[in-house]
Amino acid sequence: MRIAISTGGGDAPGLNAVIRSSALSAISRGWDVLGICRGYFGLLGEDQILRLTPDTVRGIGHLGGTILRTTNRGNPFSFPVKQADGTYVEVDRSREIIENAGRLGIDALITIGGDGSLGIANRLHQLGMKVVGVPKTIDNDVSGTITTFGFDTAVNTAIEAIDKLHTTAESHDRVIVLEVMGRHAGFIALHSGVAGSADVILIPEIPFDIEKVCDKVRSRDANGRHFSIVVVAEGAFTIGGQESVLGESLPGQAKRVGGIAGRIAWEIQQRTGKEARSLVLGHLQRGGAPTGYDRLLATRFGGAAVEAVEEGKWGQMVALQSPHIVTISFDEALRVPKRVDPDHDVVRTARASGISFGD
Ligand code: F6P
Repeated sequence: MRIAISTGGGDAPGLNAVIRSSALSAISRGWDVLGICRGYFGLLGEDQILRLTPDTVRGIGHLGGTILRTTNRGNPFSFPVKQADGTYVEVDRSREIIENAGRLGIDALITIGGDGSLGIANRLHQLGMKVVGVPKTIDNDVSGTITTFGFDTAVNTAIEAIDKLHTTAESHDRVIVLEVMGRHAGFIALHSGVAGSADVILIPEIPFDIEKVCDKVRSRDANGRHFSIVVVAEGAFTIGGQESVLGESLPGQAKRVGGIAGRIAWEIQQRTGKEARSLVLGHLQRGGAPTGYDRLLATRFGGAAVEAVEEGKWGQMVALQSPHIVTISFDEALRVPKRVDPDHDVVRTARASGISFGD
């Protein structure tokens, strides 16, 4: 038996722990394990394929990043190819993947990725490839699993930032707007904002009115709290408005959102007269060592993925449905994207404790 492992999409703390545990679980069964470098690039002949042995995965469980590297620009079904005139056309190279996997004697692929990578895996599965998925995203926006590894680490990174911003904001009587990741889903903003005692939390699932945000800042000021902390998900937008987009994306790359914190800080300063600053936490949320929770979850996912391969559960993804790790079909996982429920208890409790969602 020979399996291959690949990591795709944005990185997330815990990827190496999945690689380690799936490789070791497979090797303990006497299987051969290959690591495909940079998403599917390795299988397209555009990057390396490594042999994973106990030695190559030793000492990586606590490290951020991925030893296999990753990309969010390598969709084999619409692969960007540069033309002589400098423009790009999208080419379907999925057949090459299947042929190359066959040539390398790969019996099954474990693909670790977010909704984009799992969607690609599903299409490869429909073309006959034997694929098992492991959900990965710091945004926690994959359905069918209570959480994904990387999310807890990202939330803790954001909380640490909020704690530090609190002391400086209070010292200067300032408003500080912290932008965290979350293109479509506000889980990082919500969880870090509640745990870090933010005053305002803005998420894509609850469009906001900037005047309501300013009202909260003003009422705190009137009550002797001369500083405020606003946590905003990068994909948040005003009622009837649109998300803030960051310039042009590279060929094959999804639209990049962000920059909203600076705009909100400027608006708050103009409307309230209070000094406001902004900070984009950005990729700090994706880097660094995974928390203990994420390491354990990633390790469990890796082991469960190998069990799924052993049981021939093709087209399925491992998922946490506490207290168990289960498998669900890609179709089920991808049917409805996971978003914050505006009536969730975390939102209700936040509102009851005085946090404004700007609505
Ligand atoms: O992993 C998802 C995510 O964290 C989004 O929240 C964010 O918009 C995106 O990745 C940014 O990815 P990159 O900067 O690598 O394109």
